[in-house]
Amino acid sequence: MWATAMTAMRATARDRPNTLGAGVAVKRIQENMDNNNNLMIPAALVDKLVAAQHITVLTGAGVSAESGVPTFRDAQTGLWAQYSPTELASPEAFARNPQLVWNWYEMRRRLVEQVEPNAGHRALVELAAIAPQFTLITQNVDGLHQRAGSVNVIELHGGLFRYRCYECDMPVTAQEWQTGAIPPKCPTCGGNVRPDIIWFGESLPERNLALAFQASRVCDVFLSIGTSGVVAPASSLPYEALSNHATVVEINPKETELTYDATFVLRGPAGQILPALVAKMKQR
Ligand code: APR
Repeated sequence: MWATAMTAMRATARDRPNTLGAGVAVKRIQENMDNNNNLMIPAALVDKLVAAQHITVLTGAGVSAESGVPTFRDAQTGLWAQYSPTELASPEAFARNPQLVWNWYEMRRRLVEQVEPNAGHRALVELAAIAPQFTLITQNVDGLHQRAGSVNVIELHGGLFRYRCYECDMPVTAQEWQTGAIPPKCPTCGGNVRPDIIWFGESLPERNLALAFQASRVCDVFLSIGTSGVVAPASSLPYEALSNHATVVEINPKETELTYDATFVLRGPAGQILPALVAKMKQR
């Protein structure tokens, strides 16, 4: 079985299987802009995408950056700055101070409610319609893929707008819980309701993880978008794809842990690159 606990992991190229074979893979790191500032997409990548039977996509915080969703740490301003991430996002923190943790997630929910999906989210909806088979895996909890129209999204780290009971683990909706208390109380057992988010030290949902690994194993093209690739086990998904000879593409304005191993690297914001990629595919 996989290591399912969410842990920050900085894997080095040395730790990974050398799946591409030194000297065999042709590395194409694109600066992506021509002299007229037009976005350039390698034709060989468009060929791969058009021919692909199954495209698997992994997204991270970067895909929501252009919507203005602050990262966990960026949201820690004002009175929240005094807390460490584990004081706000761990089972121990919730047991110690459920009100504090509930209020932190209330604040983050309000931030996300004020923003909209961006062109990158929307391009992935179009890509799903073009590809014969398509799997979208996300580490994001903001629900913006779903709001853009993506379906069957595999959420690895939970969702900000879902809840369950801390005591009996039953899913709870805002219509069901008893109002008044913070956090609200479970209608089944009276326990504290918690966000359905995977906290530090908790296991990822086993079924979702299994689906994510399977989709990474069987795809022809794997897109890693807006993720730094430092949090396991999501960080190992592109390597699962590489081991099975898929074309692995990184879309990110900055270098990441995956850059060295990716087949193609597209440098730039997802909200610009993804629509351009989909437009090129449609022109074929
Ligand atoms: N388009 C694409 N990528 C972008 C953009 C953009 N417009 N803006 C920033 N990025 C990239 C950054 O360069 C960075 O590599 O997005 C990445 C975001 O990295 P992280 O903040 O580490 O986010 P992520 O990889 O999703 O983190 C994984 O860690 O904090 C936990 O649970 C949280 O799900 C999260 C997990």
